Amino acid sequence: MSLNIIILAAGKGRRMHSSLPKVMHKVGGSTMLEHVLIASKKLKPKTINVVINSKTDDIKKSFEQYDVNWYIQLKQNGTADAVKTVLPHLAINEKVLVLYADTPLIDHKLLEKFIKYMPKSDVKVLTVNLENPFGYGRIVREQAEEEIVAKIIEELEADHIQKNIKECNTGIIFSDSTTLKNLISKVDNKNSKKEYYLTDIVSIANKNNLLVVPLLAKESNSLLGVNDKIQLEKTEKIFQNNKRNHFLSQGVTMLDSQTVYFKGNVSIGEDVEIEQNVVFEGTVKIEDNVKIRANTNIKNTKISSGTEIKTFSIIEDSTIGSNCSIGPFARIRPNCKLEENVGIGNFVEVKATSIKKNTKANHLTYLGDTDIGENVNVGAGVITCNYDGVNKHKTIIKDNVFVGSDSQLIAPIVVEEGVTIAAGSTITDNSEKDSLLIARSRQQEKKNWKK
Ligand code: UD1
Ligand code: CA
Repeated sequence: MSLNIIILAAGKGRRMHSSLPKVMHKVGGSTMLEHVLIASKKLKPKTINVVINSKTDDIKKSFEQYDVNWYIQLKQNGTADAVKTVLPHLAINEKVLVLYADTPLIDHKLLEKFIKYMPKSDVKVLTVNLENPFGYGRIVREQAEEEIVAKIIEELEADHIQKNIKECNTGIIFSDSTTLKNLISKVDNKNSKKEYYLTDIVSIANKNNLLVVPLLAKESNSLLGVNDKIQLEKTEKIFQNNKRNHFLSQGVTMLDSQTVYFKGNVSIGEDVEIEQNVVFEGTVKIEDNVKIRANTNIKNTKISSGTEIKTFSIIEDSTIGSNCSIGPFARIRPNCKLEENVGIGNFVEVKATSIKKNTKANHLTYLGDTDIGENVNVGAGVITCNYDGVNKHKTIIKDNVFVGSDSQLIAPIVVEEGVTIAAGSTITDNSEKDSLLIARSRQQEKKNWKK
């Protein structure tokens, strides 16, 4: 019997108070739906089926890399109705696992355990004990036979005794396609929300002499649902703490891990030091012996060994070589490639620029659309004028060039190997190698001048 996964993602998400579909809100830099898709994929199912609503049809575009069957639930009539949109498309007697897309921290290992849990049963329900069960469906166990769920009662329908039950429905249910079809066809909407609750299949199963068994998860953090921004923040905090603990236990030194944020796919080598208020985003690779000083943002970037990123620096979509020194107050914009031992100092902005080894630009400089060779010294206040108002142009600075302070290089331009540019020059023309270029007006001296 093959496994089919149904992910419910069509709900209105009203409690989020947002025009963004609920499942597109992010936890740890990825959408909630993506988290659930990643966990689903790890189970190697035959099909993954995601139910969305017609207004959120365009979210499909964000998941093109996933092999998913999309289904539209025309009206948000409840979770049973959402599952019903998929069931006719599944083969008979196949395994079905139902997941909710608003449970982003779900761990695939727990799902594997749940699927493999094999007491005699027709439906399995993954449950969890919560200190504050408000909002969750409560698990009512059969008095005589504890390991049978008699029914799941939703918060709105529960009486005050049932509301005291701490065991909650995670929303994760396992059964087979044929049983689910039968049970769901019998669900009605006679409840306070006038919705077809998937959870009603439990009492219906009992009436039809089918067995519904619970598996009580030991750990609750990975099973929390997100219905509002308070729960979203709580979930984000759990995600971040999991990441921090992971990296601390891998030997990363963090001065105050509570202020370090991991929003994406981050890998960190040995003997790395990270100071406070650091945000990693996207795919980030930090090699051994890198030091990341306080108040820096690093996004989609590889930083090679021995490099130091000094305070208040922002680096995006770039590659930084080994033993470089970046910052303080440096901005590396997308598509930069720095080789080893490059120095980028304070108030230097670099964009779409490649820089070869041992080159320095240490003060107040803009380098855009530039290729710079080895051993180049870029003085203070140098600007590559790459934009003429319509198009961007390239600047090429070859090896061993000295660019004097406060010079402008008007692109397109090539500065040949070994050229020295005198301070304060505006360079408009290409030149021969090893030349001295002086391109500034001469100083005049008016002697004994009176105001
Ligand atoms: C649901 C469960 C509750 C459980 C809790 C766990 C029901 C009736 N209740 O409550 O027992 O404790 O999850 O987090 O199932 N959705 C659709 N179509 C709809 C309605 C919802 O696709 O018509 C989707 C939502 O996008 C969401 C999921 O189903 O991903 C759950 O819906 P939600 O409204 O969040 O249910 P809860 O009130 O959290
Ligand atoms: Ca929910």
